Amino acid sequence: MAWEFRKLGPGDNVAVEAQRDPFAAPKWAPPVWHMPEGLVLLVNLVRALVRTVVFLVRNIVPVSAVAGLGWLGVRFGWLVPVLVLALVAVGLSVWAGVDRPSFVRWIARPARARWRLVAVYRRDWQPVLVTAGLTKVHKGREYLPSLVRVRCGPTSDRVLVRMLKGQAPDAWERVAVNLAHGFGATLVRVRDGDRPGRIWLEFVRKDALSVPIPALPVPDGSAVDLSALPVGRCEDGAPWRLRLLGTHVLIAGATGAGKGSVIWSTIRALLPWMLSGLVEVWAVDPKRMELSFGRALFERYGRYSDDPKGGMVELLEAAAVDMNARAEQFAGVTRSFTPSHEHPFRVVVVDELAFLTAYCPERDLRKRAESALAVLTSQGRSVGYCVIGAQQDARKEVNNLRNLFPDRIALRLDEDEQVDMVLGDGARDRGALADQISSIPEIGAGVGFVRLEASPDPVRVRAAYVSDSDIRDMVALGLPDVEAA
Ligand SMILES: Nc1ncnc2c1ncn2[C@@H]1O[C@H](COP(=O)(O)OP(=O)(O)OP(=O)(O)O)[C@@H](O)[C@H]1O
Ligand SMILES: [Mg+2]
Repeated sequence: MAWEFRKLGPGDNVAVEAQRDPFAAPKWAPPVWHMPEGLVLLVNLVRALVRTVVFLVRNIVPVSAVAGLGWLGVRFGWLVPVLVLALVAVGLSVWAGVDRPSFVRWIARPARARWRLVAVYRRDWQPVLVTAGLTKVHKGREYLPSLVRVRCGPTSDRVLVRMLKGQAPDAWERVAVNLAHGFGATLVRVRDGDRPGRIWLEFVRKDALSVPIPALPVPDGSAVDLSALPVGRCEDGAPWRLRLLGTHVLIAGATGAGKGSVIWSTIRALLPWMLSGLVEVWAVDPKRMELSFGRALFERYGRYSDDPKGGMVELLEAAAVDMNARAEQFAGVTRSFTPSHEHPFRVVVVDELAFLTAYCPERDLRKRAESALAVLTSQGRSVGYCVIGAQQDARKEVNNLRNLFPDRIALRLDEDEQVDMVLGDGARDRGALADQISSIPEIGAGVGFVRLEASPDPVRVRAAYVSDSDIRDMVALGLPDVEAA
């Protein structure tokens, strides 16, 4: 008999073909065990029971409410539950009218979180996670990370997730875009959870910072806190508070990124204390554009063309000398600084820092500026000196003093590598996409990322926009004092 090789088709009976081959290995099939029908029924019954109990426990509040109303209806007639519902609705409306923040906190947000848990996250959990590759199949069984809790904020949802054992947060960071599209969010960020093995997913529903924020009201003198000056808004709607006491601040952003609005919002928040003499702002303005407008507000002002011998540099050197004198005076007396009329808190604002340290044509001036800045930033924190530096270019060649600024703000940057240079390693992976901020002023100017003290995760913020007329008003507030002086 002649054998020839041919491909088996769907109609071929493999067993018959094998039988025809006298050399084929014998095939063994396991015995088939038929489960008794009664047992199948019992297993399904137990499953259904467990599911019902889980559902009842998970939804204990709505289930109890519906059961209670049902019982009232059966016992006393249907008018009673309707009346109860109407009373509850009236009560809630009064609560919402009288104390809205507590109503939102205790009723509106939890209700919304519950709704979004059921209608968005739990509904699409499995398909989205399977497509994003976050599930695992082992021996035919699918393992799915579990959804622990949902919290709703005004503009974003936070979802607590128990990862699969052996999974790490970066597996989720890699598919953040898939998750955003899957759950209808504009952006997803992965944050550390409350314990190992759990993470928070932050789903940003709408961009709270997409419209410019008008200048914040000038605070009352008693409300000024040098550790938390309100300068804008965070993405979750909370005020963005900037610390000046005991630190220095570097603002990095491409041209038109809105560095001016951070500087001016800070000055605005300091204004009452500037007027009362507890705070002095010394301004260095190489471009003669940003700060000249509010010149009357500054105790000292230096600009490039003022004095070819280096008006700006002399200002910095004077600050360094005074700072040293202060340090000498305070040594052994006090370790914490409290501003007074004798020793005001001094803020040295330097717009376009890179001009002083890199672009200034006179080499000698560059060296002098750099060493004065190094002295101020390395020793000024504990004696009431704070340097606020703004610059377009975050690269090291341009500003090697960068690491002397403990607090840094990344506004719109030209290149993605600059994000970690400004905010520290890993900041971009943790969601600080400063290179993707829009260059359209209405949408992106003043928007940036900062690292707040409480958490290593960068927070998206927007500075309030202090317009020319706001600055004029600020100057007008200060004029009587200036004249009196
Ligand atoms: N916080 C803000 N909100 C809305 N618009 C802003 C904000 N800040 C700035 N702008 C707009 O963007 C423009 C550029 O801002 P700004 O001059 O502060 O940028 P910059 O970063 O200082 O740029 P450069 O480095 O060129 O000086 C402003 O004229 C203003 O129209
Ligand atoms: Mg500017």
